[in-house]
Amino acid sequence: MNTNQKLKGQSALVTGANSGIGEAVAIALGNEGANVVVNYVTNPENADAVVKKIQDNGSKAIAIKADVSNESEVQSMFQQMFDKFGTIDILVNNAGIQKDSPLESMSLHDWQLVINVNLTGQFLCAREAVKEFLKRGIVAERSCSAGKIICMSSVHQVIPWAGHVNYASSKGGIDMLMQSMAQEMAPKKIRINSIAPGAIKTPINKPAWDTEESLKRLLTLIPYGRIGLPEDIGKVAVWLASDDSDYLVGTTVFVDGGMTLYPGFSTNG
Ligand SMILES: NC(=O)c1ccc[n+]([C@@H]2O[C@H](COP(=O)([O-])OP(=O)(O)OC[C@H]3O[C@@H](n4cnc5c(N)ncnc54)[C@H](O)[C@@H]3O)[C@@H](O)[C@H]2O)c1
Repeated sequence: MNTNQKLKGQSALVTGANSGIGEAVAIALGNEGANVVVNYVTNPENADAVVKKIQDNGSKAIAIKADVSNESEVQSMFQQMFDKFGTIDILVNNAGIQKDSPLESMSLHDWQLVINVNLTGQFLCAREAVKEFLKRGIVAERSCSAGKIICMSSVHQVIPWAGHVNYASSKGGIDMLMQSMAQEMAPKKIRINSIAPGAIKTPINKPAWDTEESLKRLLTLIPYGRIGLPEDIGKVAVWLASDDSDYLVGTTVFVDGGMTLYPGFSTNG
């Protein structure tokens, strides 16, 4: 076990934590001593497996089911967390989905579904976390800030994405949601930042890496020459949640192997 834990005694909620990036973030926060809520909406057995991994590493964890786009389920999830751990110090707004289609055939249902989960879900969870941060204030033994929120965005908050207008719009929205919340909450010593992952090897983008051909094509977009791993994001989430990043407020950290360097321009333009 890590003996110099940076998040000892803090309580964290990670949405969509039974898969991919959320799972790695939940485990990384647990390794630093945080009590972790593993939020999930389907596949309870995966959530239980993540809880067990965190417990086996010596931290407390529970799984709580809630659809992040449903106001009453989100409120009930926070209440269950407070009943179990007393409070919240760290929220990681991670849950997200893709429902891809060409613009001319994208249904209103698929537009709204993606906006509701990816953007409204982040608002609903942030609002509940902030209420508690404001009520409780700073607890100096745990952290020098009154609370931290990490919004999982994407390189598509800046890179337009044909065939994915709902997803890219949701991530562009997260950028302004994060910055506006950060500006409003900074005087209360609440720190809000985003992580913008590039291509990370998870179920959400399996077709982009699961054959040799598709991986080769993907790597032309990544100057650093490898696909990202969920653990790459977990490490950055720990840093953003800890006092080591105390002066970072309203910033997006791009964790993308250089994808936002637009490598197509290295040989063209
Ligand atoms: N994998 C990548 O390359 C990549 C790149 C950029 C951004 N992201 C973002 O990272 C986040 C995690 O994605 P991932 O790659 O781990 O994919 P994933 O599909 O493995 O995980 C998504 C998680 O969100 C959960 N979820 C979906 N709808 C939900 C809802 N209504 N309520 C609660 N949870 C819900 C899923 O159950 C799952 O646990 C997403 O916000 C995604 O947009 C991923």
